[in-house]
Amino acid sequence: MRTARTVENGTRVSDGFYEEIRPRLYRRIARELQEAGRVLDLGCGGCELARFLVSRYGKEVTGLDVTDGSFPDLGQMDDSVRRRLRCIKADARRLEFLGDEAADAAVATWALHEMDRPREILEEVRRVLRVGGELLIVDFPRGSLAGRLWNEKYYAPEEVSEILERAGYEHVSARLVERGQVIWAKGFRPVSEEAATS
Ligand SMILES: C[S@@+](CC[C@H](N)C(=O)[O-])C[C@H]1O[C@@H](n2cnc3c(N)ncnc32)[C@H](O)[C@@H]1O
Repeated sequence: MRTARTVENGTRVSDGFYEEIRPRLYRRIARELQEAGRVLDLGCGGCELARFLVSRYGKEVTGLDVTDGSFPDLGQMDDSVRRRLRCIKADARRLEFLGDEAADAAVATWALHEMDRPREILEEVRRVLRVGGELLIVDFPRGSLAGRLWNEKYYAPEEVSEILERAGYEHVSARLVERGQVIWAKGFRPVSEEAATS
């Protein structure tokens, strides 16, 4: 039987909450990135989101992670998926194998809080995004169920906004969704690099 807990904002959530919302969250991410053909999945883990975006929405997705232990066996997948999915062992801070403007959008799901020096990473991601391209951050907020379950350090939405702004993104926003248990933050690569570095 699953335990339920009361978290900081007074909401009662089950320990399985994040697994329960996963399908809905993935669909929400797909809607948010509907205009993007080429997507980077930063800190992709087992590439589940990447696979979902490829197989359900026909996107071209590059998943990146510093560890490849959970990568799927691409050889077991349909040709149609294999053609559009890459899982690459790489540090998101050094994306020299990707050219400028190689992606229309980037997403990091449950990963920002694990990344050292996130501002540097997001600056490098900005370079490989096309002008106007979107960076979407989905993460556990401070004070949420995640803190009770795993006791890691998490950001508040304002901190994620600040990281995005300092990394040179514009039209930045960050808010809580899913009963306050998820940060949903985004920013866009500015048209002028002057705006990004001023
Ligand atoms: C909690 S996991 C989330 C995995 C996946 N996004 C998901 O939704 O299941 C965070 C991932 O970020 C990866 N990561 C941390 N720092 C990274 C970096 N600098 N570059 C690439 N991946 C990184 C970790 O290796 C880990 O697999």
